Amino acid sequence: MYRFPEGFVWGAATASYQIEGSPLADGAGESIWHRFSHTEGNTHNGETGDVACDHYRRYREDVALMKELGLKAYRFSISWPRVLPEGKGRINPKGLDFYDRLVDELLENGIEPFATIYHWDLPGALHDLGGWINPEIEHWFADYAAVLFLRLGDRVKRWITLNEPWCSAHLGYVTGHHAPGLRDQWAGLRAAHHLLLAHAAAVEVYRASGLQGQIGITVNINATHAGDDAPETLAVVRRVDTYNTRFFLEPLFKGSYPEELAQHFGRAWPKVTAGDLERIAQPMDFLGINYYTRLIFAKDPATGTVRQVKSTAPYTDMGWEVYPEGLYEVLKRVHEMAGPLPLYVTENGAAFPDRIRPDGTVSDPERTDYLRQHFIQAHRCIQDGIPLAGYFVWSLMDNFEWAFGYSKRFGVVHVDFETQKRTVKESGRFFSRVIAQNGLDAES
Ligand code: FCB
Repeated sequence: MYRFPEGFVWGAATASYQIEGSPLADGAGESIWHRFSHTEGNTHNGETGDVACDHYRRYREDVALMKELGLKAYRFSISWPRVLPEGKGRINPKGLDFYDRLVDELLENGIEPFATIYHWDLPGALHDLGGWINPEIEHWFADYAAVLFLRLGDRVKRWITLNEPWCSAHLGYVTGHHAPGLRDQWAGLRAAHHLLLAHAAAVEVYRASGLQGQIGITVNINATHAGDDAPETLAVVRRVDTYNTRFFLEPLFKGSYPEELAQHFGRAWPKVTAGDLERIAQPMDFLGINYYTRLIFAKDPATGTVRQVKSTAPYTDMGWEVYPEGLYEVLKRVHEMAGPLPLYVTENGAAFPDRIRPDGTVSDPERTDYLRQHFIQAHRCIQDGIPLAGYFVWSLMDNFEWAFGYSKRFGVVHVDFETQKRTVKESGRFFSRVIAQNGLDAES
């Protein structure tokens, strides 16, 4: 039996643009994701978050489902342009009311809200001013966070400033795979630095508010391995890990960016002051980690170039390797840097095609197996003294998977996007049993 400590926070996660639908309802402003998904060629089949899971209107039903599953906590994100249609200045009361009602609904059902302040849906109006490239954005973000703390801070006790700043900066500003779709390394480096400053500014506002809850940030971390010991391979592994992970962990925990970044990017590297770094490294109350997979690099014997390679393990529908030991490796690494800071797995899960049986039940053994193996690794972390306080499965329900549209299903609850019918998958039933027992048997 893998038993978890009492009070371990079992939850599920979602994000506003991925589930809510009705993106312009009740006076909301456009987000960069609304614009991006409505621009041809950006998403699978041109799909958008216009309807998604219709959660904006069905949130009560969804909270009932969470209760049925026995979730202890729910991690959701708040849409900045619902609350501030222009990104700053005027508040849209109806947008804020939605989150107020959602929080009350959760609490009435005994589910703790974990609110993410920013999960990628930047107000379009702020993008028009430069978005994450504009150094002013830390003030816009701090003001937005202050509005949320004031209205929801009496009931929301755990706040996550940003979800995966690497994705916002790199996929949004460098590769263009995500909104706002820029392809500019110079912009991406500034976006990353401003994201970290915005995180710092929100923490400062939270501390100044005197509220008694906790605040942290969520970063995405892959396990990154070399498939051979060629010096060129090791250099690539180091470079990838430095850019994807050390870029964010080191300023947060060591108060400095890795030297290699400034060297590598040369004149494109932004001017960073000691004051900036001190603010970014100010103490937080927990760290959120999103873990999905491992990257492996090896030298191609034919060409001599280093490239990403596959192992013999199973791969998910995203083409991501199933590598549960990576969860342990990543959490151990973070713990070594962050010391006693409580850690949460704020996302972990897998996309697999579901099989709907004639009787309507949904069979997804690969997802159940993925979760089981990762739970066992989470348990191993706790056994080894890593202060893991909770685990959130990604995702509560199938949803709009960004550029992949509705083609990738991550939910433990199936959504029929024609009818909006929700059906708990077998993995959801499994998760529910794990929560009820606060643990699992080797065979459960
Ligand atoms: C993470 C995102 C989340 C979801 C999962 C699959 O990078 O935070 O919104 O798309 O990947």
